[in-house]
Amino acid sequence: MDYKTITRSLYLKQHSRISDNDKTFNRIFGIYKDQNYGLGDKWFKNKIVLDAGCGNFGALTVRLSKLGCHSVYACDLGKKWIKPMRKSLKKRGVNLKNIKLKDGDILKLNYPKNFFDFVANNGVLPHLKNKNEIKRGFAEGAKVCKKGGYYFTSFGVSGGLVQSVIFPAVRNFYNTNKKFKKFIDNLNHKEISKILSFIVQNSKKNKGPKLDINYLKEMFSEDFCVFLHNHIQAPYWLTNECTKEFIIKMYKANGFTNIKRIKKFVKRTDIRKYFAPLHFERENKVSKILYGQGYMQFIAQKK
Ligand SMILES: C[S@@+](CC[C@H](N)C(=O)[O-])C[C@H]1O[C@@H](n2cnc3c(N)ncnc32)[C@H](O)[C@@H]1O
Repeated sequence: MDYKTITRSLYLKQHSRISDNDKTFNRIFGIYKDQNYGLGDKWFKNKIVLDAGCGNFGALTVRLSKLGCHSVYACDLGKKWIKPMRKSLKKRGVNLKNIKLKDGDILKLNYPKNFFDFVANNGVLPHLKNKNEIKRGFAEGAKVCKKGGYYFTSFGVSGGLVQSVIFPAVRNFYNTNKKFKKFIDNLNHKEISKILSFIVQNSKKNKGPKLDINYLKEMFSEDFCVFLHNHIQAPYWLTNECTKEFIIKMYKANGFTNIKRIKKFVKRTDIRKYFAPLHFERENKVSKILYGQGYMQFIAQKK
């Protein structure tokens, strides 16, 4: 199986779980709920937009539709995602008439040049094989964006202890240790609950500290499983390569101006809520150690 097929089949499962779990969907949708990329909500009215590499729970597609876009085009690899995506959008009250879903690879987008008012490439480019592919994928999105239109790209955290040391080691263990791979692949909130119950009971049995099972379940919820799967399973995770300098260079090389980095506080509900302030305040010295350059999200205008 080629790496793209593996990537897509992993996300098909991950995204179906997000779509089926309203709490997790709503937590992720919360990231987009008031997001307008500094353009103002009204800007999106009647615009033609693209969500490239949209996945199959569609939080961003839902948001773009609710902003009143004329049409929201969305693509991802293959066709298996289209049915669950439609189901997810329908469940969230989206009018499917304005939504155009089709099979599409971000390395070769099949839309007219200079067509979209707004193009989103949200967490997709780091899943390509190398920096050359990332440059090609970036250029495809830039090509279908209209002159005067906006191109939003989101990459993830670049550098720091978490992304450049801890997760590469965890991914390496996942790829080399069959038992760990099976454990991660089968992990869900029920499995985590069983582990937590074992820990709490054994602490009690051995006269250790009294542990609060409900609190622990909240900290290691379905949201936490989704986070682990997202960070561990994908064949390629090139967020460290996508530095601020690399991304700005790509925007400039593709004729963009007005390049702005986007910063947003993400409200977490699981254990990550204790790290969210550090994630957000990039200049803090501990943030720099943990997250390097921080989360990379940019928007820019095509000249
Ligand atoms: C982390 S998910 C992000 C999904 C969605 N953009 C979101 O923000 O919820 C990465 C997505 O990129 C898609 N993807 C990876 N490589 C792709 C490619 N070459 N063309 C189109 N989509 C791709 C995957 O199938 C997956 O749905």
